[in-house]
Amino acid sequence: MQIHDNPTLKAEARNLNFYYGEAKALKGINMPIYDKKVTALIGPSGCGKSTYLRSFNRMHDLYPGNRYEGEIRFFPDNTNLLSPEVDPIEVRMRIGMVFQKPNPFPKSIYENVAYGLRVRGENNKRVLDDKIEHALRGAAIWDEVKDRLQDLASNLSGGQQQRLCIARALATDPELLLFDEPTSALDPIATGAIEELVHEL
Ligand SMILES: Nc1ncnc2c1ncn2[C@@H]1O[C@H](COP(=O)(O)OP(=O)(O)OP(=O)(O)O)[C@@H](O)[C@H]1O
Ligand SMILES: [Mg+2]
Repeated sequence: MQIHDNPTLKAEARNLNFYYGEAKALKGINMPIYDKKVTALIGPSGCGKSTYLRSFNRMHDLYPGNRYEGEIRFFPDNTNLLSPEVDPIEVRMRIGMVFQKPNPFPKSIYENVAYGLRVRGENNKRVLDDKIEHALRGAAIWDEVKDRLQDLASNLSGGQQQRLCIARALATDPELLLFDEPTSALDPIATGAIEELVHEL
């Protein structure tokens, strides 16, 4: 049994700096992230919360001029996520992200959730069906979509789209999930469902 006061370390930022070109957005962050816990970031607008989150799955690599210093260690393998030898695609399989605005792909509900699995090379229909159902159940949206899996994801409501994006993030069995204000555009009931889900996960 895990002792309450001594949780397992899942990740740790060590002297992390981040630059958008010349602008230094993160300054000397040292912060532990514990396994099977919810870690919340609170701070004023513009203080760097999103910048910090995006560092974990190397989203900043998509734009030229962005630069990291320091390390983000990921456990149990003690990988430095920021190391140039670490493949960002592999990192994004292990660390999923859900954004403020739901951003489903212009594809069917089914193919949205299948996407990461297909990138991994999984094309067996039975395996995909199973994993997709599991992820949609995990995101508490299965009952609402099970009879319309081939519908376009864009036909879903905002709250449903956000839960679909959570299912998409869950499908590859990530070890860490990053949520950047995922409920700020949702009503209180949809917000409650997502908060409950985060605690269950
Ligand atoms: N793509 C970008 N290029 C240049 N500067 C950026 C970029 N994105 C964010 N910044 C700047 O980096 C700093 C941190 O922004 P960030 O979005 O991380 O803040 P935040 O804490 O998430 O704020 P909010 O609560 O408003 O979402 C801000 O000064 C912001 O203007
Ligand atoms: Mg933000």
